[in-house]
Amino acid sequence: MSVVAVVGAQWGDEGKGRIVDLLAAEADLVARSQGGSNAGHTVVNASGTFRLHLVPSGIFHPHVTNVIGNGVMVEPQQLLAELDELHAHHVSTDSLVVSDRAHVVMPYHKLLDRLEEGARGAKQVGTTGRGIGPAVQDKVARFGIRVVDLLDPAVFREKLHAVLSLKNRVLTGVYGVEPLREEDIAEECLAAGARLAPRVGDTVALMQRAVADGKRVLLEGAQATLLDVDFGTYPFVTSSSPTVAGACVGLGLPPQSVTGAIGVYKAYLTRVGSGPFPTELNGTVGDRLRERGQEYGTTTGRPRRCGWFDATLARYSARLNGFTSIALTKLDVLDALPTVKVCTGYRRGQARWDAVPADASILAECEPVWEELPGWQTPTSDCRAFEDLPLNAQRYVDRIAALVGLPVALVSVGFAREQIIQIGVG
Ligand code: GDP
Ligand code: IMO
Ligand code: MG
Repeated sequence: MSVVAVVGAQWGDEGKGRIVDLLAAEADLVARSQGGSNAGHTVVNASGTFRLHLVPSGIFHPHVTNVIGNGVMVEPQQLLAELDELHAHHVSTDSLVVSDRAHVVMPYHKLLDRLEEGARGAKQVGTTGRGIGPAVQDKVARFGIRVVDLLDPAVFREKLHAVLSLKNRVLTGVYGVEPLREEDIAEECLAAGARLAPRVGDTVALMQRAVADGKRVLLEGAQATLLDVDFGTYPFVTSSSPTVAGACVGLGLPPQSVTGAIGVYKAYLTRVGSGPFPTELNGTVGDRLRERGQEYGTTTGRPRRCGWFDATLARYSARLNGFTSIALTKLDVLDALPTVKVCTGYRRGQARWDAVPADASILAECEPVWEELPGWQTPTSDCRAFEDLPLNAQRYVDRIAALVGLPVALVSVGFAREQIIQIGVG
């Protein structure tokens, strides 16, 4: 039996989807546990190029059961659009099971996401606009509508009526916009619910049975540790717990069932949206990383902010999650650079910092302590073994392993499924 979590270790978009697509070949089940269609996981394989938001990245392997767990915020229309797209590429989605306990992202959540952002003025989080924050607010406040409710029109209509009368008071009274029409929402959601119904099930029991039966399970993280609502750079975070612990809650798995945790780290660092970023590169090197790494949001198309690898943040993530190994992605993006830098700690005023402060404005004032390493200026995209990498690239990978204190098990050198070096640890 193995239950391995694949978790974003930075600010998202580390390449979790492509790592899961690779590892799923040796898995029986792949499960998403949190987030929603704010996630955008790019998978490039023989079936095509896909940008998955809700469907787990194990979907391309016909033998794998794919689960959308109770912790995921499900936007039914988005999920159906994704399934249609997969079908258009002849990818079977028969194995997908959606938790009856998962909460539904409703049209008013997406509207409120935009309005709340507007109300923040200069202090915008820079959300993806997918309604995740408002949907989580309703979940925790016990106003949420769940997937199970979509299956019973009478129950759904009753809940919608109660919650929409409140939402419309907020929409008209607080934000001064038009109220939403109950019947339009009911029709749209119930139609989507009817299409999803055959896939809805008790995923908690399914997960626990898989573990009891000794199946090989992969937990596919969305977002990432530095966007965690408790441990990330609050308030510039998402509204979920993208850590290994969060994955257990989002699937109904006991923590001791997890046997391993792979932290997915980009060989440099990116972030979309607002918030502190001590190693950010605002000049030509940042632009080069963005262009070479094609750093534009999978969900929103926004340019990603780029910077050097930050080992302080990387260690923080590793400890919070209990990672057992590292998957290091996009090493090839650094190929052309004469030198590469790594942040090994922070300085603020006269003080040396080795921790991540709770206050985002203090993190924003931290100056990185740099270590500069020679670049390799040799293409790595065709390398398939660690020894194939240029020596300076090997040294860079080894240095990251040493700074984080974990073995590097996977190094990716391109977006295609085969462009990966498996080092065989963890
Ligand atoms: P995720 O959200 O963590 O699954 O990552 P995204 O899919 O949002 O962003 C990762 C982007 O980098 C995608 O466009 C991938 O195709 C691409 N990518 C992943 N790994 C590599 C790699 O090793 N090299 C290069 N050049 N691109 C990669
Ligand atoms: P994947 O799974 C990168 C960021 C948004 C914003 C903040 C809050 O593809 O790695 P939200 O819409 O969640 O309320 O936005 O979180 N964000 C992501 N950044 N990758 C993601 O997912 C993200 N999901 C949310 O840009 O800064
Ligand atoms: Mg992404």
